[in-house]
Amino acid sequence: MAGFNVRKTGGNIGAEVTGVDLGVTISDAVARQIRQAFLEYKVLFFRDQEIDDERQLAFAGLFGDLTHRHPMMRTAEGSPQVIPVDGEDQRANHWHTDVSFTLVPSLGTTLRSVTLPPYGGDTLVANAAAGYRDLPGELREIADRLWAVHTNHAEQPRLGTERGEAVRSAFLVKRYETAHPVVRVHPESGEPCLFLGGFAQWLVGMTVRDSRPIIDVLQSYVRRPENTARWSWRPGDVLVFDNRCTQHYAVNDYGTHPRVLHRVSINGDIPVGPDGKMSYIIREGE
Ligand SMILES: [Fe+2]
Repeated sequence: MAGFNVRKTGGNIGAEVTGVDLGVTISDAVARQIRQAFLEYKVLFFRDQEIDDERQLAFAGLFGDLTHRHPMMRTAEGSPQVIPVDGEDQRANHWHTDVSFTLVPSLGTTLRSVTLPPYGGDTLVANAAAGYRDLPGELREIADRLWAVHTNHAEQPRLGTERGEAVRSAFLVKRYETAHPVVRVHPESGEPCLFLGGFAQWLVGMTVRDSRPIIDVLQSYVRRPENTARWSWRPGDVLVFDNRCTQHYAVNDYGTHPRVLHRVSINGDIPVGPDGKMSYIIREGE
């Protein structure tokens, strides 16, 4: 196999990595190159990987300790770190940051294709640092001071099936609320990022009604097509995104065809705002 190589997939986010076989043990030197590219491009794509859950766990482990169990999503039998992302359970066709309703949202998430529809089902990933950078200075100053409450009792698109309703109910059975700075300073790169997404429901000190248009305006900078990568899944694909400075969206355009990805997430840390203040819990799983 030719050596490690990185090819950007867009100007502001995303790169495809070639010359790496995730089916074998990754050397420390290559692991360092992967982590460096991960920080720089925020989402990395790998094609033609023949790997199973065990190798995916090892790949995710290159970035840190693995998340042992999602607070409410079902996990693969015998492997509580592996979450089957199944279109028959739910479809995440809304922009979000994984588990941002908790105090310690994931550092990153790896996804691997298992069963793919004949068309559609792409994954979009947006660069929230670019979203912040693109804000006019006046808006940036406002964003720097805002905090948002993230809750799992947020936008959860309905599938309209019995199984979909059961998964939705399980997702909502407990209520989490966490306040995060709207601008999060990336713990490794120091970059300021807009830390919002679909679980962010209102701004601290404001009503939902007043918060909504402000959140929407900030979100529109993150979601600009220029700041996104769009990945069309093929068998053997693996991706990893930095959940601290991106948002993602699963395009729901594959009808009733099956679509299953396996997700393994990496433990993150407590977000910190530009003034050094840390996120705090309001309600936890009550
Ligand atoms: Fe997600």
